[in-house]
Amino acid sequence: ISPQDMAGKKVMVTLGPTREPWDAVRFWSNPSSGTMGACMAVAAWLRGADVTVVSGPVSLDFHSGIKQVRVQTAQQMFDAATDLWPDMDLACCTAAVADYRPVPHGADKFKKSGADSGLTVEFNNNPDILRTLGERKAEAQRLMGFAAETSSCREEAERKLAAKNLDLIACNRIDREGSGFAVTTNEMFVLDAHGRREQWPNLKKTEVAWRLWDHLLLS
Ligand code: C5P
Repeated sequence: ISPQDMAGKKVMVTLGPTREPWDAVRFWSNPSSGTMGACMAVAAWLRGADVTVVSGPVSLDFHSGIKQVRVQTAQQMFDAATDLWPDMDLACCTAAVADYRPVPHGADKFKKSGADSGLTVEFNNNPDILRTLGERKAEAQRLMGFAAETSSCREEAERKLAAKNLDLIACNRIDREGSGFAVTTNEMFVLDAHGRREQWPNLKKTEVAWRLWDHLLLS
């Protein structure tokens, strides 16, 4: 039987990639499957929380007890998450948000020029959702972020925890087999705002999720 230690808590989880359109058929994105976020959402729900997922384009459907707001772009995810945040107790941002969006070519499908001149696409910045939630965080709210890194996990975790005003950050290497995108396990370095730091072995994402909520609830 699950403990109901998150009963009465309102939890928001962002998950999946975002998709930034360029023309009628092309977009800029990444291979995030939303698995880590789904594990966070289901774990919180099993523990009695009232869970809302803000999901990018993923092939995941949740139990009807979990609310799912589906979005495509980072701006849409930003709008949904910032709208929900004031009413939440906890949030966990696992989404692999595109940091940039291409300046759209337009509604039509881009046609090749025929000349062998390559293609240059310009990008604009997307808003940082987690940083904004951190800036707007009330005293009683708790905020968790993730960092996917190919190097300097610990330094990056420390920097992002402070920069985004987080209570907890979970950093995973995405250049190691069995950790990161589209696999079912993650190797985590976890750091909280009290300076508590832990290196976890390679664990199933379901187990990682359970431990992360434990850690956040106790911090
Ligand atoms: O700075 P970096 O992108 O590495 O930070 C990762 C964390 O920030 C993740 O928790 C991710 O969900 C969140 N993030 C966000 N909005 C962005 C970029 C990252 O919420 N535009």
